[in-house]
Amino acid sequence: MARHLITSAIPYINGIKHLGNLVGSQLPADLFARYQRARGNEVLFLCATDEHGTPAELAAAKAGKPVAEYCAEMWEVQARIAEGFRLSFDHFGRSSSDQNRKLTQHFAARLDDAGLIREVSEKQMYSHADGRFLPDRYIEGTCPNCGFESARGDQCDNCTKQLDPVDLINPHSTISGSTDLEMRETKHLYLAQSKMKDQLEEWIDTRDSWPVLTTSIAKKWLNDGDGLQDRGITRDLDWGVPVMKGDAPWPGMEGKVFYVWFDAPIEYIACAQEWVDAGKGDDWQRWWRTDKGAEDVRYTQFMGKDNVPFHTLSFPVTILGSGEPWKLVDYIKSFNYLNYDGGQFSTSRGRGVFMDQALEILPADYWRWWLLSHAPESSDSEFTWEGFQQDVNKDLSDVLGNFISRVTKFCRSKFGETVPDRGAPGPLEQKLFKDMDAKLTEYEAHMDAIDIRKAAAALRALWVMGNEYLQEAAPWSTIKENPEQAATQVALALNLVQFYGIISAPFIPDAAATIAAAMRHEDTRWPQSLDEALGRLEPGHAFTVPDNLFTKITDDQRADWQARFAGTRS
Ligand code: 2FM
Ligand code: ZN
Repeated sequence: MARHLITSAIPYINGIKHLGNLVGSQLPADLFARYQRARGNEVLFLCATDEHGTPAELAAAKAGKPVAEYCAEMWEVQARIAEGFRLSFDHFGRSSSDQNRKLTQHFAARLDDAGLIREVSEKQMYSHADGRFLPDRYIEGTCPNCGFESARGDQCDNCTKQLDPVDLINPHSTISGSTDLEMRETKHLYLAQSKMKDQLEEWIDTRDSWPVLTTSIAKKWLNDGDGLQDRGITRDLDWGVPVMKGDAPWPGMEGKVFYVWFDAPIEYIACAQEWVDAGKGDDWQRWWRTDKGAEDVRYTQFMGKDNVPFHTLSFPVTILGSGEPWKLVDYIKSFNYLNYDGGQFSTSRGRGVFMDQALEILPADYWRWWLLSHAPESSDSEFTWEGFQQDVNKDLSDVLGNFISRVTKFCRSKFGETVPDRGAPGPLEQKLFKDMDAKLTEYEAHMDAIDIRKAAAALRALWVMGNEYLQEAAPWSTIKENPEQAATQVALALNLVQFYGIISAPFIPDAAATIAAAMRHEDTRWPQSLDEALGRLEPGHAFTVPDNLFTKITDDQRADWQARFAGTRS
């Protein structure tokens, strides 16, 4: 039995994620976790909320709540939506946990001991009225380039020019509105990534099986200058992991916190500790420490392409630089972007369909199927309502749903709700077995390789084969001349129904559960072979006709949703 550690990039706490976020990390990670579990492997699948940093502070302020309270509430919201999408995390943690605080402070101490941390003095905007340094986004003023009055300290949203807070005309604090600002000296800790360049490069070069998207981004950042510059890992904020050297104070760093991107990936490890502390597991070290059993773990990370530099460079620097035997990632599956109806999904502008809204209008399986079968793997992909309606209606309703409905209803009307006696397979059946056997092998190979679109295409092809078989075998005709042959055909088709339930479960778990319940066959073991899988329902086995599995999306519904989600949400 193989052991798979699987993590999804942890979503920011500030607000509900859109479908583009979902398909770029959590959903494909869930597909892979479900598949590996189904294959009988041991899986630890972790995700969490990314709770620190300026965006969380800003969102809490906007909601008029203390930031800790805001984060606790939003964690509940995100956890509930994740359940709605059937994301099967073994634990959904929080980067603000005690476990992550301790571990982050521990890593900082180890890195400092290894000579990888240095102090840097820099100038930053200080607000007397607020009694604090202001991050760039907390400062607004007039853009020197275009005259826009609400340009932020880091960028003008009107003309997109990158700015420094000192460039702004009449800068003021967005917290208090105060203009009593001054550039003040402040000290920060920098992680000396540059010292690790050779070690990192060697590590990346030995990961020859990474997808092209991942490796090309990693290499670009490694060699293009910017990426491996030393990085500031502390901030003048209240909300975050306090800068400490392990348990000890860090002189000169009082009142500062670690940068959110320093503690966020450490949460992958802390989350496993949270999983144990929540009583769901008893040993996190055998997943994370190579001296404690993790050397035979295969670790796969899922993320959008914008997260790749942090996972291929910064986080490995933290791990390698600690000099401790932590498990490093084996495979990084990264994704391009999903676009929405001719533009981009955008959280800040509320453009597109958000996870809560999606579940309000359709069950999870519809979204899971469409998103996964259109995963933006080799290039960006696009969601359009027409395409969504057409693909979902065809694949789920016309092909899979229709097959299941026809087979079970026909059997009920002619043989009753039990599997009829089955004779020897004829040439048509033999051809089906041969074709399906090859397609099943192909499907498994794509799932093993996490080639998601190809896997979805192979699964769809398996469904189509069942339909074509039924069409050709035509038991509704055969039964007139040769009832025994019709019985054989129907018994095989019923076995196909339960087989589809099992192999489709990673994509459409709710439909799979409905199929298993209707077939009264809860045995969801992955097929050992096609023969074995298609012999599980024996003659005389009782079943029921499942309720309509997938209702078609009508033109009216599509038009309605298209209009409803055309604008932006506040
Ligand atoms: O892009 C994001 O949504 C980040 N919150 C991902 C963090 S992943 C990791 F570092 F934990
Ligand atoms: Zn401007």
